[in-house]
Amino acid sequence: MTEIPTDLQKRLKAHGQEHVLYGWNELSVIQRTNLVTQLSTLNFRELDELIAKAKVVEPPPKSQVIAPLSVASGEATANERSLGEEALRRGEVAALIVAGGQGSRLGFDKPKGMFPVGPVSGASLFQIHAEKLLATSRRYGKPVLFLVMTSPATDTETRDYFRENQFFGLPESDVIFFEQGTMPAVCAYTGRLLLDDYGTLALSPNGHGGTITALAERCIFRELHTRGVKHIYYFQVDNPLLKLCDPGFIGRHISTQSEASSKVVFKERPEEKVGVFALIDGKCGMIEYSDLPRELSEVRESTGELRFRAGNPAIHLFAVNFLEQITSGDGLPYHIARKAISHFDPEAGVTVTPSSELNGLKFERFIFDALPLAERWLAVETSRAEEFSPLKNGSGADSPETVRAAQSALHSGWLERAGVPTHGHTVEISPLFALDEAELKRKLPSGFTVTGPTLLR
Ligand code: UD1
Repeated sequence: MTEIPTDLQKRLKAHGQEHVLYGWNELSVIQRTNLVTQLSTLNFRELDELIAKAKVVEPPPKSQVIAPLSVASGEATANERSLGEEALRRGEVAALIVAGGQGSRLGFDKPKGMFPVGPVSGASLFQIHAEKLLATSRRYGKPVLFLVMTSPATDTETRDYFRENQFFGLPESDVIFFEQGTMPAVCAYTGRLLLDDYGTLALSPNGHGGTITALAERCIFRELHTRGVKHIYYFQVDNPLLKLCDPGFIGRHISTQSEASSKVVFKERPEEKVGVFALIDGKCGMIEYSDLPRELSEVRESTGELRFRAGNPAIHLFAVNFLEQITSGDGLPYHIARKAISHFDPEAGVTVTPSSELNGLKFERFIFDALPLAERWLAVETSRAEEFSPLKNGSGADSPETVRAAQSALHSGWLERAGVPTHGHTVEISPLFALDEAELKRKLPSGFTVTGPTLLR
């Protein structure tokens, strides 16, 4: 490619973004082609609207009626459980992991899913999730399709990691990797696109809400219909404790004909960093922890419980048709975050690294913005000790130490209730040995004892 396509040049001029062509003559053919490819996927009109929205200093207050969301509690009934089991037996459930984020808070320079969290085995997050799916597919005699959403930063390493580990025993054809989309970063003052280098836009993942558009763009909805998949079990890479493909939850989702169902863990402290489910203008919605005003987060009921305590462990079940419908409209809204962004200034030929100045804007979509679009929804309480221990930080709360301890505590409980004292030793039960307490009880060899760190595999 030697010339800049004229229609692209016109569009850049019309939207005040011609600076991205700076140094065009010095770019190689490959660099020119890459730049044109990056630019041709941009929706300049949408970007202009987002930039204009970010410039509104004080958005007009939106009066919303916010109330606590009612949450179903207790165990699923036998009937609900068998509905879920039948759906698994028919292969109607696919699992979808969002693994596009980089573990920057964790200080790990590989995809977070590769982090070793098994308290005895050192198994990675990816291995634990994959083995739960393998065990589920063996139990119900039907594969559970595994959809792995990556981002440009995690894609190659994630695919290589699964391949090197023979997909952890899953058939390769049942693991579908797909890359989420990106959004450009812009200067917070001028709205101009930021660059990483001459001819290279500064792009970042478009948030886990990008899952839905990526499923459509990569033709995965079509694949799901072909395979007869009706429900997507959505979860985050960082939580090894979740009961993946929990038949009771699936059965409740089916019996209530919900388009979106979510698990809920109750918050105990106002400052806990989890989003909160609420009834917003009569619809199920989520208020992110950074957006929940103190006057709401600290209110307590007469029982002493927080009024807005329905915390989000990011475990959802979505009807495939519901997610697909969203892609036919405007899609999910973008959230605008002001951030310090290093970038390349093409006119000066230097890289600018802001120390703390929030010089740029990033745009992200969040999956939970799909919830208010559902006509029928369900929120179900789950126990934190049994289902939620996310890996977020290098130390302190939600760190490797707490995540390993939570798995060992859960599995110790299973063993103790099966009559095997663990004497405070670290224990781990591979999903391939037992997916739950009942299976462990059936499989435990008689006379089994724990005398040191123990892995049952
Ligand atoms: C998230 C939720 C919060 C919830 C908490 C539970 C948001 C905005 N908030 O918080 O409501 O209570 O998890 O642990 O998500 N990801 C992508 N692509 C992206 C961005 C993120 O795949 O572009 C994935 C990450 O790999 C991760 C997950 O989404 O699996 C969550 O991202 P993270 O940044 O860890 O969210 P939190 O702020 O911790």
